[in-house]
Amino acid sequence: MAGPVTLVTGVSRGIGRAIAERLGAAGHTIVGVARNPPPYELRGTFYALDLADPKATAASLADITKRHAIDNLVNNAGLVSTARLEQLTLDDLDRLISVNVRAVTQCAQACLPGMRAKQRGRIVNLGSRAMYGRSGRGGYGAAKAAVVGLTRTWALELARDGITVNCVAPGPIATDGFRNNNDMTSPAVKALLASIPVGRMGEPQEIAAAVEYLLSDDAGFVTGQTLNVCGGLSVGLDPI
Ligand SMILES: NC(=O)c1ccc[n+]([C@@H]2O[C@H](COP(=O)([O-])OP(=O)(O)OC[C@H]3O[C@@H](n4cnc5c(N)ncnc54)[C@H](OP(=O)(O)O)[C@@H]3O)[C@@H](O)[C@H]2O)c1
Repeated sequence: MAGPVTLVTGVSRGIGRAIAERLGAAGHTIVGVARNPPPYELRGTFYALDLADPKATAASLADITKRHAIDNLVNNAGLVSTARLEQLTLDDLDRLISVNVRAVTQCAQACLPGMRAKQRGRIVNLGSRAMYGRSGRGGYGAAKAAVVGLTRTWALELARDGITVNCVAPGPIATDGFRNNNDMTSPAVKALLASIPVGRMGEPQEIAAAVEYLLSDDAGFVTGQTLNVCGGLSVGLDPI
């Protein structure tokens, strides 16, 4: 298969599936990772991997980077949990940091030598609007805020190697991930959705479009940025 080779984590459903399908249609060869195989035809190769396991992740990434010359990395897979401060266990916090920060770092480290050798690369990390604050999302929001910190720092470190690093921070997007972590009948979730300025949830394809742009040659002068794709929710409350 010709075209750029793009490693996408979390390809089995939701936003990752939309990214893999959009990029595949645009000619990318996808190297897809998730615990379960994608229930659709991936344009590329799928690797079953639990990113919560650092040793398995290291072994699988070593294998993947030996077999594929990765041009682009999309760190999409993420872990969400709901716990207010008094309920958040340290184990839960460790798991959130492990999947959302450690695995993201491991994937970037694995792809770096190949990108550096080519003096060209693109890394897009998935953040979240929750990093700006949402009740019950302390651990998750902290992990996603860390992703922005990594993005900005790696952008500086890698700019002279022709590698850009950016973050796409979604607002509420209609996926299993959102539905599984939000009681859609609760007044708090209804109020959250009602407060989205554009008046609706986002679609996975709208995140995929932003990712595709940041991976493109046209985005070569964009690095270290966080693009909020959130229907205006990150702007703040409109009191009028
Ligand atoms: N949906 C939203 O409203 C929203 C808002 C803000 C940010 N985000 C972020 O966007 C990203 C995608 O969210 P989503 O809503 O599409 O989630 P989702 O529907 O739950 O899908 C998550 C994907 O990641 C994979 N995954 C999860 N844990 C994994 C692990 N330990 N190892 C390997 N793969 C794993 C899942 O596959 P398997 O289960 O097969 O492993 C699945 O393909 C996440 O980083 C999330 O934090 C989403």
